Amino acid sequence: MSRLDSFIRRLAAQRDILNAIVELVNGTEGPVLEFGLGNGRTYDHLRELFPERRIIAFDREVRSYSSSTPPAENMVTGDIRTSGQAFVGIGAALAHADIGTGHDDIDAVTLTWLPQLMAGVLVKDGIAVSGLPLDRPELAPLALPAGVKEGRYYLYRRR
Ligand SMILES: C[S@@+](CC[C@H](N)C(=O)[O-])C[C@H]1O[C@@H](n2cnc3c(N)ncnc32)[C@H](O)[C@@H]1O
Repeated sequence: MSRLDSFIRRLAAQRDILNAIVELVNGTEGPVLEFGLGNGRTYDHLRELFPERRIIAFDREVRSYSSSTPPAENMVTGDIRTSGQAFVGIGAALAHADIGTGHDDIDAVTLTWLPQLMAGVLVKDGIAVSGLPLDRPELAPLALPAGVKEGRYYLYRRR
């Protein structure tokens, strides 16, 4: 599969999973956390799906389109590995992380801290959606929506 096809399928999986978990997320209270704002496409989609929720976005710096940039109080800059720690215990209803790079060595480092952070920010029954696998006992894998291939994107519920 070409890298272009792989990229398209990964983004389609991200969108299909986010669309599929709206009712699950609406079963719990709490903010939505977006780890890896990027240019804000997914943030914009999350705003459409969860118009009443506070959505807090994280990135090293703000590089999003102006129309997809969170208000300052909901934008956290810096390395998520450290900046995210202040949000452990916030009781998020949904945490989404799109911070994989496709470079195994870099992603291996991210995987030393991301699963713990994702589990730590969620309320019980909160939902984790991630481009990288989250191997934590507190996170129970959920079935992916039809059409999303195993291993393309990851979905969990906080025990
Ligand atoms: C693939 S992009 C996210 C794209 C986003 N979903 C969108 O709609 O534009 C990944 C983003 O995560 C950020 N990122 C990756 N690792 C990070 C880290 N450890 N701390 C802060 N930001 C990080 C990168 O700067 C980049 O903007």
